[in-house]
Amino acid sequence: MKILVINGPNLNLLGEREKSIYGDISLDSIEQRLIDKARMLNVEIEFFQSNSEGEIVNRIQEKDYDGVVMNAAAYAHTSIAIRDALLAVSVPFIEVHISNVYKREPFRHNSYLSDIALGVIVGFGIYGYEYALDYLVKVLRRA
Ligand code: DQA
Repeated sequence: MKILVINGPNLNLLGEREKSIYGDISLDSIEQRLIDKARMLNVEIEFFQSNSEGEIVNRIQEKDYDGVVMNAAAYAHTSIAIRDALLAVSVPFIEVHISNVYKREPFRHNSYLSDIALGVIVGFGIYGYEYALDYLVKVLRRA
């Protein structure tokens, strides 16, 4: 079983960027924690980060995975293209946001992904990725 973890724009700056909102842990460290978790769950894991909407669409279209943990970052609020790519491949995914977007500006309250996601994890900090991985693997094993 292979899980793809996709991180969208500006998440490469985690640990340096708006630390009061996103904390001081880097994306590399988050990925390292997820590698450990994936090993425990006995699943393959791969990471993809891009600041470019088209590159994220292209990666989704490769469909070489069984499930996706997706923090599309700002594209969650804007991207019909990423929504359409996820609909096209029809693979289960969990939407993650590190911050509680509902406590923030109103433009972050809409997501083009939430209603087609298996589930949404918002405001659990970096742990959201691990909870998402855990649940996604459970659901895929059940299927
Ligand atoms: C984010 C929330 C988005 O609104 C924002 O644009 C991000 C990060 C989060 O993980 O909290 O870049 O997806």
